[in-house]
Amino acid sequence: MCNTEWNGHFRNVSLREDGMAVVIVDQSLLPGKTEYLELEEPSQMYDAILNLRVRGAPAIGICAAYCMSVLASRMLYGSISSGSMTSDEYLEKLIEYGEYLKSSRPTAVNLSWAVDRVLDAAVPAIKEDRDNYEAAAAVRNEAIRIHEEDMEMCRAISEYGLELIKPGDGILTHCNAGPLATSKYGTALGPILLGRERGIEFRVFADETRPLLQGARLTAYELYNAGVDVTLICDNMASMVMKNGWIQACFVGCDRIAANGDTANKIGTSGVAVLAAHYGVPFYVLGPTSTIDMNCASGDDIPIEQRRPEEIIEKFYAEPMAPEGVKCFNPAFDVTDHELISAIVTEKGICRPPYETSLRLVTEK
Ligand code: MRU
Repeated sequence: MCNTEWNGHFRNVSLREDGMAVVIVDQSLLPGKTEYLELEEPSQMYDAILNLRVRGAPAIGICAAYCMSVLASRMLYGSISSGSMTSDEYLEKLIEYGEYLKSSRPTAVNLSWAVDRVLDAAVPAIKEDRDNYEAAAAVRNEAIRIHEEDMEMCRAISEYGLELIKPGDGILTHCNAGPLATSKYGTALGPILLGRERGIEFRVFADETRPLLQGARLTAYELYNAGVDVTLICDNMASMVMKNGWIQACFVGCDRIAANGDTANKIGTSGVAVLAAHYGVPFYVLGPTSTIDMNCASGDDIPIEQRRPEEIIEKFYAEPMAPEGVKCFNPAFDVTDHELISAIVTEKGICRPPYETSLRLVTEK
């Protein structure tokens, strides 16, 4: 089993030392219980992503890349060993696993981005060397690179984000875009945690984030443990704290950014942006360039995940909270119109409108 704590942060996702399992902290149980899961089989991996045991766009990408590495190894040495596969059969099976993992959640583009990246890394070993062992090593190395790059990206985003705020500012955030959702520091929470390390204090207001309470369970937990001044509010209180003049900036993460800057993030984010525009508060999206999808021209092209009605009706309640059989609408994400976004902070710099140009420049860098 690998070391699960590192530098005061959770190792939320890692590869077990023998390379035959992905180890995750089960985020669906936090903050009440800290339990680690070892993902060995494709169905366990799919379940972990679908049921938000691992969640947050970059963390899902890192986890999926490691899952592909585990599956690549298990086909050679482990429980799903399939004898003497030809190289073409091996690659075909890997692609099949990749498609299966990608189908677990549709909105965060980091998932397909990471799976495609490790597959691309495997192709030369298969096509040129016809060597399945080399291909598995290439998948593993690429997965590790994705993880390491994410740490660097979060750090760079945090530095850029810090330029947008000043000591003592009030910051409102929605959902969870902290270390648990990424690798280290996080994106939207990165500037706050980096600032804290440097003795710069902010006052954070964390939306609880209905229906699955990522803000209450995870953001409040991460910031509180880091010693940040954090106040938990219900989603419908955001207007009041902005009206009171307590918020100088909104910082949110992202699951997919379209070429025109329209941004999908946790359901409720677009409402925060509308409120921020009303009260004249800048609204910033923070995320790595791997979350920009230039193949989506606008938010209309971003697939929005629909989840089970039970999450609204009964999850977290001792008793059902709605009449049995009532119709439910449970989208997991919404799209914030680019006109409501003051800037998009990436690891390669701060993009301002017009986003068609500024996003193209950072993705081509
Ligand atoms: O459904 P979730 O919890 O995976 O949603 C996560 C978010 O909406 C985050 O804000 C986003 O993935 C960015 S994480 C750095």
